[in-house]
Amino acid sequence: MHNPALQAAGIPAQYIRVHVPPGRVREAFDTFRRHGFFGCNITIPHKLEAMQAVDDVAPLAARLGAVNTLVISDEGHFTGHNTDGPGFLRAVREAFQKEIIDLRVLILGAGGGAGRATAVQCALADCPRLVLVNRTAEKVERLSQELRELNGESDITALAWEDEILSEELANIDLIVNATSRGMKPGDAPLLPTGALRAGHQIFDMVYRPDASPTPLIEAAQNAHLPWTDGLNLLLHQGAISFEHWFSQPAPIDAMRRGLLATATA
Ligand SMILES: NC(=O)c1ccc[n+]([C@@H]2O[C@H](COP(=O)([O-])OP(=O)(O)OC[C@H]3O[C@@H](n4cnc5c(N)ncnc54)[C@H](OP(=O)(O)O)[C@@H]3O)[C@@H](O)[C@H]2O)c1
Repeated sequence: MHNPALQAAGIPAQYIRVHVPPGRVREAFDTFRRHGFFGCNITIPHKLEAMQAVDDVAPLAARLGAVNTLVISDEGHFTGHNTDGPGFLRAVREAFQKEIIDLRVLILGAGGGAGRATAVQCALADCPRLVLVNRTAEKVERLSQELRELNGESDITALAWEDEILSEELANIDLIVNATSRGMKPGDAPLLPTGALRAGHQIFDMVYRPDASPTPLIEAAQNAHLPWTDGLNLLLHQGAISFEHWFSQPAPIDAMRRGLLATATA
């Protein structure tokens, strides 16, 4: 999506993939600096190492606890940003024509990196009701306390991942978010008990598959005729925000979407 964006915006640059072994992020940064890179995206497993290696972390990224986009100034100064949180807000707006302030949200996998960033972003966006669920329950118990300190107005709870409890809770939820990695592989077990989805639910599965096939959660949403969006939409919007950080101009979103879909369905 980034090369079509650069082309559409008439920017003489290229987006390339660089393989960096763990422990060598600083060395990679020196190389990027020497070769005049504008910036980069960071992915698994480097997000933590990158956060420690940058010169500055933008305030939102510090709050969300991860950087995924780095801007390199003309002087070679590295600033870390997080585009997953704001990308999530844009993706929700585009897919459901709704704002988080009007949605009661349940996040499955809120204890992981993406889930945590989404939960913090929802709390910052004054989500009225936020329910955090994670396979390892302790992670979300700590997080729910932190978020209540951040936003005393919202109703924020941590919930055990048990079918019966989940089914009951879903009666008071508008937006269900999958931030676990379950659903990435064909054959992954469904996330929710059968019949848990009902009218009024909107589904956001952050997972995307290389072949763009639907995850079990998206299939369940389609079968129940519910509005849904998937990880490709999040990828697009977080990528658009990366572009805006690098070039201080609106991202050519249509060119990016076309590029992304062409790759995902190739
Ligand atoms: N579309 C996008 O642009 C975008 C951006 C970021 C992430 N993502 C997707 O979001 C997912 C999570 O990424 P991440 O970076 O947050 O990974 P992560 O930090 O490794 O977190 C993984 C999360 O998944 C949970 N989990 C793993 N296997 C599970 C299972 N079988 N059943 C239930 N829960 C399970 C983990 O629970 P425990 O804490 O109990 O281990 C944890 O909450 C991935 O699929 C990733 O591709 C998409």
